[in-house]
Amino acid sequence: MLLLLYFLLVNGAYAKLAINYDSFTGTPISLEEVKRRDERNITFWCTNQIEPCDPEEGKRVDGSCNNLRYPQRGAPHTPTYRLLPAVYDKNFEPKLSKSGHSLPLARFLRTSLLAEGRLPDQKFTTLATNFLVFMSADVLSIQDTVKYIIWKPYCCQRKGKTDRDCVPNKIPDDDPVHRFSNIRCLNLTRPESFQSVGCIKNDTVPERIVSATPAFDLSLLYGTTLQSLLEKGRLFKSGLLKYEVERGRIWPPSIETGSGRCFLNQKPQETRCHNTPDDTMNSLAGVNLFSIWFWRLHNFIATGLTKINHCWDDDKVFYTARDINIAIASQIILYELLPAYFGHENLLKDGVLSPTPGFRDHYNEHLFPQISLEFPFVFRWFHTTQEGNMNLYDTQGNYLKKVPIVNITLRTGFFGVDDNIDYVTQGNFRQATGKADYIVDPDVAEVGLGPQQRATDLLTSDLAKNRLFGFQPYIKYREFCFKQSFKSFDDLLQAIDPERVELLKGVYENVEDIDLIAGIWLEKLIEGGNVPPTLYCVVVEQLLRTIASDRHWYERPKRPNAFTNEQLQEIRKATVARLLCDVGDKVTHIQRQAFYRISPNNPLCDCNDIDFVNLWAWKDPTCGEQGSQFDASYNTAKFFQNQFLKLKTNV
Ligand SMILES: *[C@@H]1O[C@H](CO)[C@@H](O)[C@H](O)[C@H]1NC(C)=O
Ligand SMILES: *[C@@H]1O[C@H](CO)[C@@H](O)[C@H](O)[C@H]1NC(C)=O
Ligand SMILES: *[C@@H]1O[C@H](CO)[C@@H](O)[C@H](O)[C@H]1NC(C)=O
Ligand SMILES: *[C@@H]1O[C@H](CO)[C@@H](O)[C@H](O)[C@H]1NC(C)=O
Repeated sequence: MLLLLYFLLVNGAYAKLAINYDSFTGTPISLEEVKRRDERNITFWCTNQIEPCDPEEGKRVDGSCNNLRYPQRGAPHTPTYRLLPAVYDKNFEPKLSKSGHSLPLARFLRTSLLAEGRLPDQKFTTLATNFLVFMSADVLSIQDTVKYIIWKPYCCQRKGKTDRDCVPNKIPDDDPVHRFSNIRCLNLTRPESFQSVGCIKNDTVPERIVSATPAFDLSLLYGTTLQSLLEKGRLFKSGLLKYEVERGRIWPPSIETGSGRCFLNQKPQETRCHNTPDDTMNSLAGVNLFSIWFWRLHNFIATGLTKINHCWDDDKVFYTARDINIAIASQIILYELLPAYFGHENLLKDGVLSPTPGFRDHYNEHLFPQISLEFPFVFRWFHTTQEGNMNLYDTQGNYLKKVPIVNITLRTGFFGVDDNIDYVTQGNFRQATGKADYIVDPDVAEVGLGPQQRATDLLTSDLAKNRLFGFQPYIKYREFCFKQSFKSFDDLLQAIDPERVELLKGVYENVEDIDLIAGIWLEKLIEGGNVPPTLYCVVVEQLLRTIASDRHWYERPKRPNAFTNEQLQEIRKATVARLLCDVGDKVTHIQRQAFYRISPNNPLCDCNDIDFVNLWAWKDPTCGEQGSQFDASYNTAKFFQNQFLKLKTNV
């Protein structure tokens, strides 16, 4: 009853004061205009309803009011920016080759440029790839995949020919794999845009529309609207997110299979399907796992804060825990995950990493909180390092079995049975990722979506999307990034090994025809890092923009509810190893640098010896002395873990 009243009050007040903005332009619109949009059923995509900004308020769930001058920027369904202007043929069809012909087929290029096979990397664990997937899912939405699987499943049939949205990929007759099958077509639809959903006229350059907030803010957990967080996320007790205990493990709440997105749950035994704000976490295995872990971490933190600060109410604990959770995720991404791939020295030199452990403030109110269209796109290069199998290990490190990772997409139930989550967790920090070696795993290249489709080549889709997004040629990005101008194939030798330049010569007529992602696929890796230089450039541009445009960035000294220096120093201790020690199932030992494989230099060690974020730094003196009956030198992490597990008995 009280809860109902709360909703009425919150939503009532919200409706009264909120201002409606056009999601594309970011300008306010009238109530009459909103009504017209309701009639056309485009309000969801084209309108953002936003409460007036309060400069002292913390980071909003919907990302609005991040930039006080442009309140709507930072919210879902707001435009991306382009590093380079789009190029299209007429009617916004993919551009033609320099000589005026269609470019070579996407599937032909993929099979010509990248071999299929499996070679384990000697450096990185699959935990790293899974975190990268989670990181990109935080700023994307899966509508463009759902569209050709569920909304428009006919793109390879006759009906597809009459639907402009259908852009299936043709398979050449002499395809190395499908010459032996009767499959001649791979499903694909055009990416959703402000034009396709009806927000703006379709005679303008297509602008991608995405339902996530353009910030690394754990929106997979907390959702992107206050309403869905209140309805599906919060427990309204001790700052906790809703949870369930099943077979001694803590999970996000589940709904009956059938009502969620867990289409591939093997019934009747697999029933788990998470019912969380926005319903975005039941997707790829990597997204699913990290969402579960950060979900638990929120409750782990909230439990600690409640213990330390008896006088804090549910709201205060909840939002502080969320702020700490987001900061921990950002810290791990910036200072542990990306340095592994991009090179610590490189990122330091380019200003992505702070040179000192203290605060830094790069805020620039003239920048919108946005992502570039190119950023999540170039991230798709990591498909080449995606391992096709997920290996399961027991806690002693004995290999048990493998499961094709494509078979556990949209199948949360798998993690809930047979202690699978324990074995998958162990596997994540023991198994090697695929090597960055111009070779792609056969599952990624042929069965990318598992049983959802007969055949999917994720990289062929990537190349096709490259063209649908209207990206300029690879050499233009080389110019943008490195001021290099490549006029002939031979000029490419500065960036690409001779044998691969020859491959390119064999398939493209002109150096100007080379698609952005095709160039990135074949580039020599950056010095001091493990990614192609052009990918590096696009990602670094994004990170610098993110750090400068996010008023709530955790390293800022003056932001609403800013950390104290003591608190920031605790956040600095966060590692992915500690994350798994705190919330990973049956993890008692792990290597300190868990994105790197176990080795003599990176041995397994006891979780008790791994540094942790000490929540005592959040002790509020105005709460009185109650909390301090626990000695600060006590093994605090262990203590919170026990508290956390005790939650079981309170269900
Ligand atoms: C209105 O739009 C929403 C979101 O795009 C969609 O789910 C719903 O089916 C649409 N309703 C009608 C009547 O078209
Ligand atoms: C724009 O919309 C019209 C009417 O629906 C359609 O005929 C045309 O093909 C569309 N053009 C593009 C570029 O989408
Ligand atoms: C993976 O899915 C495919 C297609 O549904 C199926 O044939 C195969 O047996 C599955 N593999 C495993 C190990 O579950
Ligand atoms: C195309 O999609 C439909 C619907 O999901 C599916 O039945 C068909 O097998 C798909 N085609 C291929 C080649 O996967």
